[in-house]
Amino acid sequence: MPSRYAVVGQPVAHSKSPRIHQLFAEQTGQSLEYGKQEVTAADFAAFVREFFAQGGSGLNVTLPHKEAARALCDELSARAELAGAVNTLSIRNGKLLGDNTDGPGLIRDISVNHGFSLAGKSILMLGAGGAARGVLAALPEVKPGSVRLLNRSVHKAEAIRDALAEVLEIDAAGFDSANLSGSFDVIINATSLSLEGNLPPVQDHWVHSETCCYDMMYADTATVFQNWATEQGAALSLDGLGMLVEQAAESFQIWRGLRPETGAVIAALRQG
Ligand code: ATR
Repeated sequence: MPSRYAVVGQPVAHSKSPRIHQLFAEQTGQSLEYGKQEVTAADFAAFVREFFAQGGSGLNVTLPHKEAARALCDELSARAELAGAVNTLSIRNGKLLGDNTDGPGLIRDISVNHGFSLAGKSILMLGAGGAARGVLAALPEVKPGSVRLLNRSVHKAEAIRDALAEVLEIDAAGFDSANLSGSFDVIINATSLSLEGNLPPVQDHWVHSETCCYDMMYADTATVFQNWATEQGAALSLDGLGMLVEQAAESFQIWRGLRPETGAVIAALRQG
């Protein structure tokens, strides 16, 4: 019987993960099944236990269960511990292992797929939800020059700053209190505003001609944040599709021990 995997979340109907992992499996000649399961918060823990008790090999966890998944794990990777959230579950010797591949996925998309080195760069993160924290938790490995974090609710930005203080220096502030002069090398939109077609309170002078702007969302057409970045003359104006495929590739590697080639998969998804 092929190994069984799934993505679990709520909602999960439109998840691209089954297609991505199927493409990875075909490309690498691996025999596996990858499904999707919508589960409520109340049923999440029981679902995970049952899935692995029935011989399942791995789960991807998406909203809103990433923090609940962390709480269930017997062991956490260092990056999942720092992220405070788990998106990849596996089982080893009866122990539930949790990892978080979201941050590494974004870093790989920017640095490998788009050839933009993050080392020494000034990075501005907009938003301080779970997605922002996952990426910030992975930033120490690329040794950025400076990290600013702006959020509507300043206490959430400060909480992330404090949680990561031992590994990353973050300057945290609220959108309204921030009077940010100057520009940034990298601007990441981790707010959920693109979903509603809205722009966070950006300032045009943040962008210079070498800036890489990254929206963690993606859609069939460019997001409002990407359009804004392009209008300001950013060098790169990227959406989050590459991050989605790269975090999946990292999960695939954790489970199967080999890394799929992502370029063809990203291209296939772009074609619909
Ligand atoms: P995720 O897990 O995807 O990060 P989240 O935890 O709900 O989702 O975070 C959503 C982010 O978008 C937060 O930074 C949120 O700001 P608050 O922490 O102040 O809520 C931000 N966001 C959502 N709607 C917003 C709005 N109308 N204006 C500014 N920021 C907004």
